[in-house]
Amino acid sequence: MTEMFAPLTFAHGAPLPNRLMLAPLTNQQSHADGTLSQAELHWLTMRAKGGFGGVMTAAAYVTTEGKGFPGQLGIHDDICLPGLTQLAAAINAAGSRSAVQLHHAGIRADQKASGLQAVGPSDDAATGARAMNIAEVEATIEAYIAAAERAHRAGFNGVELHGAHNYLLCEFLSLTHNHRDDLYGGSLENRARPLRKIIHGIRARCGAGFTLGVRLTVERFGIEIHEARALCGELMAEKELDYLDLSLWDVFKEPEAAAFKGRSLIDWFAELPRHATRLGVAGQIRSGGEAQRSLDAGADFVLIGRAGIANHDFPQRLARDADYQMPKLPLSRAHLAQEGVSPVFLDYLQNFPNFMEPV
Ligand SMILES: Cc1cc2nc3c(=O)[nH]c(=O)nc-3n(C[C@H](O)[C@H](O)[C@H](O)COP(=O)(O)O)c2cc1C
Repeated sequence: MTEMFAPLTFAHGAPLPNRLMLAPLTNQQSHADGTLSQAELHWLTMRAKGGFGGVMTAAAYVTTEGKGFPGQLGIHDDICLPGLTQLAAAINAAGSRSAVQLHHAGIRADQKASGLQAVGPSDDAATGARAMNIAEVEATIEAYIAAAERAHRAGFNGVELHGAHNYLLCEFLSLTHNHRDDLYGGSLENRARPLRKIIHGIRARCGAGFTLGVRLTVERFGIEIHEARALCGELMAEKELDYLDLSLWDVFKEPEAAAFKGRSLIDWFAELPRHATRLGVAGQIRSGGEAQRSLDAGADFVLIGRAGIANHDFPQRLARDADYQMPKLPLSRAHLAQEGVSPVFLDYLQNFPNFMEPV
């Protein structure tokens, strides 16, 4: 049985003090130029003080054309450094490990917020996005690495690459979104090339004390579970990554693919040889029991999303009561405001079905 409050070491960087990490949560609280707001600082610092062993920022955009939402945190430019430095210091001072999630929204970029045409691996009629040429793919790879260096300079313990949810890195991996016939399309190896080049670059340029994770979708958006398993297995064997974060949306659900039914998603990934890489999972972990079940099923740590919005001190509550469950949904605006959720974040949360009381 994995002890929820035992530290977790990584191949690179500082250990997590416990197995509970705040999941990346977009909250639209940043300034229009991508710099940090006091509201965002407050919301994340509260989670670090509430006992999360790791606190990750929302998805932060690495290039202007990759901006996915109004009010998104930026890490695309040095103008973001002062705010990021303040945020890393506040999270670290609370005894938590700090990470930035590096993001490019690809064809899902918000063209109004960025002021630029969206780009992706291939033209996309539905969004009006256009295919990147090779020089643009390579410049974007460099932008991810430069963003990781910025996070390092700001004092973060590490970064996570957002390779999930049909954003740019996931679109490259996707069998339905990537129609390229160059070195970035076709075989799984080619489709994973941008991700691997970013991993190599960050490992080479951010030093051995910097923790590097990757978040992946394992089914949907043209990602097939057999390919996701193959890629996870290879990435873990290559030993450059410190952890994989599997965004499962429901840790214990069964895969969609008929050939993989009969076992839960977590089981298909927990059995892969892990070498020194750690495995984190996210999706519907709302109680001490569900967190412990995920660890018992083989996860090294769990990422907590909505329960961490509902209770800034969800980990401290689990430490006191192993059976603690997050408050019953839907939640009131008053409750969430007390938990450090600002009005603009409250409005965004209204998009998530049944999370908040209707206004
Ligand atoms: C309000 C909200 C914002 C989110 N923003 C992000 C994000 O920026 N990056 C990301 O990878 N996932 C994002 N997610 C997904 C969460 O990180 C998490 O994987 C998902 O909510 C499932 O965990 P949960 O059931 O504990 O909430 C978001 C989810 C919610 C509810």
